Amino acid sequence: MGEILILPAPVSVERGTGVFDAPHPWGLHAPEAAVDAIALLGDRVRPAAQAEAQVIFECVAEGHGPEGYALSIESAGVRVEAETREGFLHAVASLRQLLGDGPLPAVRIQDAPRFRWRGLHVDVARHAFALPDLMRFVDAMALQKFNRLHWHLTDDQGWRIEIKRWPKLTSIGSKRAESPKRGARDEGDGVPYEAHYTQAEVRAFVAYAAARGITVVPEIDMPGHAQAALSAYPEFGSGAPAEVWTRWGISKRLFSVREETLAFLDDVLAEVAALFPGPYIHLGGDEAPTAEWEVCPAAAERMQAEGVDDARALQGWFHRRMATTLARLGKRPVAWDEVLECGAPPETIVMAWRDAAHAQTAARAGHDVVLCPMTHCYFDHYQGPVASEPEAIGGYTDLAKVRAYEPLDASWSPAEAEHLLGVQGNLWSEYIHDAEHLETMAWPRGSALAEVAWSSTAARTEGHADARLTHMLTLLASLGVTHWRPSS
Ligand code: ACM
Repeated sequence: MGEILILPAPVSVERGTGVFDAPHPWGLHAPEAAVDAIALLGDRVRPAAQAEAQVIFECVAEGHGPEGYALSIESAGVRVEAETREGFLHAVASLRQLLGDGPLPAVRIQDAPRFRWRGLHVDVARHAFALPDLMRFVDAMALQKFNRLHWHLTDDQGWRIEIKRWPKLTSIGSKRAESPKRGARDEGDGVPYEAHYTQAEVRAFVAYAAARGITVVPEIDMPGHAQAALSAYPEFGSGAPAEVWTRWGISKRLFSVREETLAFLDDVLAEVAALFPGPYIHLGGDEAPTAEWEVCPAAAERMQAEGVDDARALQGWFHRRMATTLARLGKRPVAWDEVLECGAPPETIVMAWRDAAHAQTAARAGHDVVLCPMTHCYFDHYQGPVASEPEAIGGYTDLAKVRAYEPLDASWSPAEAEHLLGVQGNLWSEYIHDAEHLETMAWPRGSALAEVAWSSTAARTEGHADARLTHMLTLLASLGVTHWRPSS
């Protein structure tokens, strides 16, 4: 029998002797906390009383931590221990990777994650993906023990989530007249584009992800990347009206800091909070050029009233104001690392995208941080020779680079490291047009990141990394998920 190939590599794997070779469906006994995990085993199992079960899941009080588990396979049966629902889900993700047509090898696995935040980000503003495609994406994530999907729902080029109180966000903001032409980014393609998710669809997707252990983190980007919203409601802008943007890049349009705008954003966040039971809402905050605020009378008035020195500091005031709304809604803010430079409240989780130095600065200031630096975690970058790859935004982040990524180098003090929640890969979709392309950009780089996020450096770099990856790509194919292949 071959190697035990589980990706991400577990903490410890001890081979036993013999195999478990009972015919399906196996009689299974499990506690309530394992219900979602068991559902993922499908018709391989059937409920059974404890005395006659061959597969036993047991909830234990300690020993495995909030996400850990033990999985033991012997010739007599299979036993899973965990403290939590998440632990059982991870045990089943491992078990599913061992299931094939033949018997299961005897093995004892002890496992727990290195990092708490194991995320992938999907931009649906530039190009949206149909719900079944996103659900398949979640299937692939869950099998690899990711636990956060950061859903980038709004940007200059489209607003994708229905907000009932403000219907023009989607009736106007989800439509653009055209997109940049492929291969000639400064020209338009002349093809109208529109897409949005209804609240019923959002609920269905969030529940689907939750049943697989994945918290969806919605992002409503502000005060910049707001041109689509402002095309629908120009009265909430700080400059001239504009259409939903038909080019990629960084728009100069910003939400204003007038009371009416803040009340509008409060409404939006209240509806978003009700749709996403998870604890986080991402408030964006990246790439907000201050030019409009520098000449906007309402901004000048606000700066004077609040004793704010300049337009950049006003972004800090704006972020703190929206964080207050989230606190009232029982949610915790997440934001891109620019908010550090203008004064974010301590509860804001900082997502360091520009470089790791921003993560350390944030951690030193007491923020929890997620690392997604462009150098290693931007999966919209090229992954093979530019000449033979589909057009991408730029950059070069190949599989080897992601595999070699070490989030915590020696420059992190223990106190800083305490604040590092984890890592995330980002899939911006300017140059990702459909679900198949999304999958080829995500995998196998995302699989390498799953190991960075979950496995110890020793576990992921020793042994059978190539075989684990090859096995994972075969499993993904069985879920209908494709992946990148080098062009020859
Ligand atoms: C970003 O890439 N603008 C966060």
